[in-house]
Amino acid sequence: MRYRKVGREQTTRKLIAAVSRNGIEGMTLLDIGGGVGGIQHTLLEDGVVNATSVDASSAYVKAAQEEASRRGLEDRITFLHGDFVDLAEELPQADIVTLDRVVCCYDNLKALVKLSAMKARKRYGLVFPRDLRLFRMLLPVANFFITLTGSPFRIFIHSTEQVEKILKEQGLVKQYHQKAGFWQIIVYNRV
Ligand SMILES: C[S@@+](CC[C@H](N)C(=O)[O-])C[C@H]1O[C@@H](n2cnc3c(N)ncnc32)[C@H](O)[C@@H]1O
Repeated sequence: MRYRKVGREQTTRKLIAAVSRNGIEGMTLLDIGGGVGGIQHTLLEDGVVNATSVDASSAYVKAAQEEASRRGLEDRITFLHGDFVDLAEELPQADIVTLDRVVCCYDNLKALVKLSAMKARKRYGLVFPRDLRLFRMLLPVANFFITLTGSPFRIFIHSTEQVEKILKEQGLVKQYHQKAGFWQIIVYNRV
């Protein structure tokens, strides 16, 4: 597995560091669209007590479960397969909520960001594309090539202003913001 060989993406490492500032000991985590589970595994190994992992891809859920078992973490993670927006009502709140490169895979920004923010008791961290004009111009080309592969996956570049507005309305205050090429990493606290 690539993740085991080359490790986490740089932006994922930055997100983990930013949500871990001020300590995570004894906290709970809701990781949405966690893929193979890099955030879950690191935060559980660093002091988070338990995690809920929700992913729309059954292949990713399986891969994350296998990696969690390999690390002896499977008893501390509840794995759910499905669209977070559909499952939100039945999910518990968590101290930390993370969405690492998930907002860019989902068209209904408002539902995803609002419902996930409502789950965050203390911290909310996300990695998503910067909404620069150049990236918006190149987007149709990128999505065209993805279509050719037969994948149903599409990239969305949502408005940063809109994301920030939704999070502010949910009572979250921005603590950390870093730009990294195509991506930006933002962490909010509930104060
Ligand atoms: C680009 S991958 C990122 C995986 C991982 N977070 C990372 O950065 O390596 C996007 C992930 O988000 C999941 N996803 C997208 N929208 C989702 C939704 N509404 N609910 C749950 N999972 C979602 C996809 O299934 C996929 O696993």
